[in-house]
Amino acid sequence: MLKIAVLISGRGSNLQALIDASQKPDYPARIACVVSNVAEAQGLERARAANIPALAISHRDFKDKPSFEKAIDEQLTQHGVQLVCLAGFMRLLSPWFVDRWRDRLINIHPSLLPAFPGLDTHQKALDYGVKFTGCTVHFVRAEMDHGPIIAQAAVPVLPNDTEETLAARVLESEHHIYPQIVHWIAESKVNVLDERVFIAGVNSPQSPLLNPALTD
Ligand code: GRF
Repeated sequence: MLKIAVLISGRGSNLQALIDASQKPDYPARIACVVSNVAEAQGLERARAANIPALAISHRDFKDKPSFEKAIDEQLTQHGVQLVCLAGFMRLLSPWFVDRWRDRLINIHPSLLPAFPGLDTHQKALDYGVKFTGCTVHFVRAEMDHGPIIAQAAVPVLPNDTEETLAARVLESEHHIYPQIVHWIAESKVNVLDERVFIAGVNSPQSPLLNPALTD
C-alpha cells in the first residue's frame, strides 16, 4: 500500500477525489497525511471528515523557506510518506525540497503544459482562443509548473465558455486523472527515463480529437 501525502492551500476538491478513490478497498494507495500552508483551507476539513491526519503548517510561522520546508519534510517522514501529491498548493517549493522528493513529488495543473503555466490558466486559454485546454499531471522540478509529464486530459473549449464554465469542465477531468495516476504510481507502472515518462501496460488513443468536430 503506497502511503501518500497531499499538500493543499484551499478548496481541496482534488484532495477529495483522492480521498474517495483511496476509500475503495482495492485502491493501492492510502493518504497518510494532508498538509496545508493555510490553516483555514477547506481541504483540511475534508481530511478531518475522512479521519486523515490534517496538519496546518503556515509559511508565516517560519523565518524562511528552508525552515518551513524542513517542517513539512519532517511531517512527511514521520508519516512514512512515499509519494507527495501537490493539489492546489500555492507555494513554490525550493530546489532542496524538489530534489529531496525527486520523482516522488507530483503536481496537477489546470492547462495543457507547457501552455499557460502559473495562475489564471482558464482566462489565458480563453484570451488566446485555444480550442483545447485541459489538465496535466507531472513530476515536479524546481521551475514552476515544469517537469516530466505523466498524463494530460484534453478538454474542448466551447464558444460560450466563461472562465467559470471552462474551469468546471477541466476540474472534472482533474478529478478523474489524478487518482488514476496515483494508482499507476502505486502499482510501480510509472517510470522516468531521460526526463520522459513511460507507463507500463497503458493504451494511447489512436484517433485525433477535433474541435470543432468535422461536418462530413
Ligand atoms: C486545481 O485546479 C489544480 O489543478 C490547481 O489548483 C486547483 C486546486 O483546486 N493546481 P482544488 O483545491 O483541488 O479544488
